[in-house]
Amino acid sequence: MIQVQEQAQKIQSNETVQAAQANSKNTVFETKNFDLWYGQHHALKNINLDIKENEVTAIIGPSGCGKSTYVKTLNRMIELVPIVKTSGEINYRGRNIFGSGYEVEELRTQVGMVFQKPNPFPKSIYDNIAYGPRVHGIKNKKILDEIVEKSLRGAAIWDDVKDRLHQNAYGLSGGQQQRICIARCLAVEPDVILMDEPTSALDPISTLKVEELVQELKAQYSIIIVTHNMQQAARISDKTAFFLNGEVIEFDQTDKIFSTPADGRTEDYISGRFG
Ligand SMILES: Nc1ncnc2c1ncn2[C@@H]1O[C@H](COP(=O)(O)OP(=O)(O)O)[C@@H](O)[C@H]1O
Ligand SMILES: [Mg+2]
Repeated sequence: MIQVQEQAQKIQSNETVQAAQANSKNTVFETKNFDLWYGQHHALKNINLDIKENEVTAIIGPSGCGKSTYVKTLNRMIELVPIVKTSGEINYRGRNIFGSGYEVEELRTQVGMVFQKPNPFPKSIYDNIAYGPRVHGIKNKKILDEIVEKSLRGAAIWDDVKDRLHQNAYGLSGGQQQRICIARCLAVEPDVILMDEPTSALDPISTLKVEELVQELKAQYSIIIVTHNMQQAARISDKTAFFLNGEVIEFDQTDKIFSTPADGRTEDYISGRFG
């Protein structure tokens, strides 16, 4: 009996240590009391969310709940919509991205994005990947060659394309194009990768490849992935945020969200009662 108790205590203290370690991870994005309006439409309401480094954070919720709006806010792409107004703070590595004088170009270099539909440039595979580094002033062919190879390997697409680097990226399958877009993102060595439903246009095999890739990439990057697919969130993410009508209803460890959610609305959503 005593042994069992001791064991239980040991397990508990291990869990405490693990929880403490999880909490000690650096925060990449801290969202504090953040609100966003499209004109009169209040699309994000008092969002409070911490994104930790080297984790996959999934954002789930029904269509129109603000998932894309939230991720597009993290690299300030949302500003391309002129009617947008915001209040509150989003701190990236400790600095408010809406603070005066914040260098948005620098933010977008650090925070890359992969979209729902693969969107390679109508250029060669090589030029797609070399594009960002060239914009940043890298002209040396040997260095560009190295970046292209490293990025394509990082996106698990090198073997597919190494013999046709100078062919147009449009000739690739949708799944390959999406991995080219991930490689293009890696080529500028970002810190964070935002992915907005990156597999929704892909077949199941390509989806699996991108999912495996996301799991590998988190060793080096922090990843925020919007997904419509709850099995996908459960398979690949460490934490999950459930959005509903512009609010974060629940944000927790993914296994907790999918086993014992704290909020009845989360439970209704993950058990398929709406959405
Ligand atoms: N450019 C826009 N102008 C006005 N309203 C928008 C715009 N983009 C999105 N919205 C509205 O904001 C809400 C959240 O949209 P969105 O972030 O795209 O949701 P999700 O990605 O979860 O489907 C929706 O009600 C949508 O109609
Ligand atoms: Mg969306």
